[in-house]
Amino acid sequence: MEELYEELISYTNKDYYPMHMPGHKRNTELLQMDNPYGIDITEIEGFDNLHQPEGILRSLSERLARLYGAGKSYPLVNGSTAGILAGISAAAKPGDTVLIARNCHKSVYHGAMLRGLKPIYCYPQKLEQMPVNGGILPENIKGLLMEHPETRLVVITSPTYEGIVSDIRAIAEVVHRYGALLFVDEAHGAHFGFHNAFPKSAVTQGADIIIQSLHKTLPAMTQSAVLHCNRDELNSKLQKYLAVYQSSSPSYVLLAGIDRCICLLEKKGTELFEIYYGLLREFYASVEELSNLKIVDTVFLGRDGVYDIDPSKLTITVHGTELTGHELQVLLREQHHIELEMASFDYVLGMTSIADTREGLTRFAKALLSIDRNLGNQGKKQSALGNNHGFTPEIVILPGEAMESQSEAVKFRESAGKISAAFISQFPPGAPLLVPGERIDQELVTYIDKIRQEGITITGLIGESMDEIEVVKL
Ligand SMILES: Cc1ncc(COP(=O)(O)O)c(C=O)c1O
Repeated sequence: MEELYEELISYTNKDYYPMHMPGHKRNTELLQMDNPYGIDITEIEGFDNLHQPEGILRSLSERLARLYGAGKSYPLVNGSTAGILAGISAAAKPGDTVLIARNCHKSVYHGAMLRGLKPIYCYPQKLEQMPVNGGILPENIKGLLMEHPETRLVVITSPTYEGIVSDIRAIAEVVHRYGALLFVDEAHGAHFGFHNAFPKSAVTQGADIIIQSLHKTLPAMTQSAVLHCNRDELNSKLQKYLAVYQSSSPSYVLLAGIDRCICLLEKKGTELFEIYYGLLREFYASVEELSNLKIVDTVFLGRDGVYDIDPSKLTITVHGTELTGHELQVLLREQHHIELEMASFDYVLGMTSIADTREGLTRFAKALLSIDRNLGNQGKKQSALGNNHGFTPEIVILPGEAMESQSEAVKFRESAGKISAAFISQFPPGAPLLVPGERIDQELVTYIDKIRQEGITITGLIGESMDEIEVVKL
């Protein structure tokens, strides 16, 4: 029996509504495709070559560049991950210093490690009373560049997973003044710039290299993404490294999905974003009645590095209620057949896109209101943990050195004081809580232990019970 296929068919025939990616939301009224087997080919005559595009795939790149206003754009079939690895490799040479925002996705660290770069970190601001990160301050980047004038590349994530946007124009200005390049991981911002209610894309705000996951916030299939480059001199290296990190057999089904997605935006983008924003406004208006659960909204604008907020991300905190984020996720799944994108200890996240329906968003709002009313009857309890992003582990050795060093497995609970040889991340989204080469702190061990017990997935631990960590053997 085809276990996975049967399961997928059975699940998708049920009435679960996806508040998660991919951004097409399985909305087959908006987008359809022939049976994928019928169009799955390889680089035969007339269908070009992604690694050396001269025909139909070059035209796809040019259309992407026009749509986003980029110097040059590269469609990707191995997700933003491949674009991040290629972008970092093209922009920095082995031994270069790279300034990384510490809340970046693990692929940024992988890129730095593969190229033997020396990372220095910039920490995002913390949002007051909210368990999510704020933005990156231009003045903090400036301070680090003054301290490390040899820095060649700055990599930041904007928007964050929760939709917090930093001041890219100001950051780009600082970075360029100090002779470095700015790479913006805009994996969650492929929908930016199509409507003025959404933030502007880093592509038009002075960034040099930008990646976007089309599959996260637009109607495109999983793994489809785009890399934009606004610096001509980087293009030949980018092309070389994209061939290193991407499959030599890129899927024409995924490429056709990118084609259909951008065709939809070219022809009906304005209309679809207008309808979508209308639905979001209805959603936000109806959840104003929430009295226990809270929505992260524009009250944070202008504070804590928050330059803009993406309204497409529905971040709901459970802070001060008797529920954890994971418990809210389970209630939504079991009682309302709504599947969220992510649940953390203190909050949950729902993702939306132009493929959402009024029925779906109304169902989500009603479910939250109903859960919220029941919470009201049960009294409040403070959550056991505060802000989960306040960790600043000590860097003892470079990540690459730690990965290559002799290591041993020890019980995670007894690992405080040792140097991690592993990436430990909460998944999703995959920004590491601990990077190889960093000292393990008791507070972090307690935190990770606690959220694991709450059912939150932590990647990077090993052993049969996933209760061990690889540490540097001293
Ligand atoms: C901020 C960020 N960057 C990059 C990635 C990697 O993107 P992809 O899954 O398209 O490879 C992710 C994935 O979740 C992410 O959240």
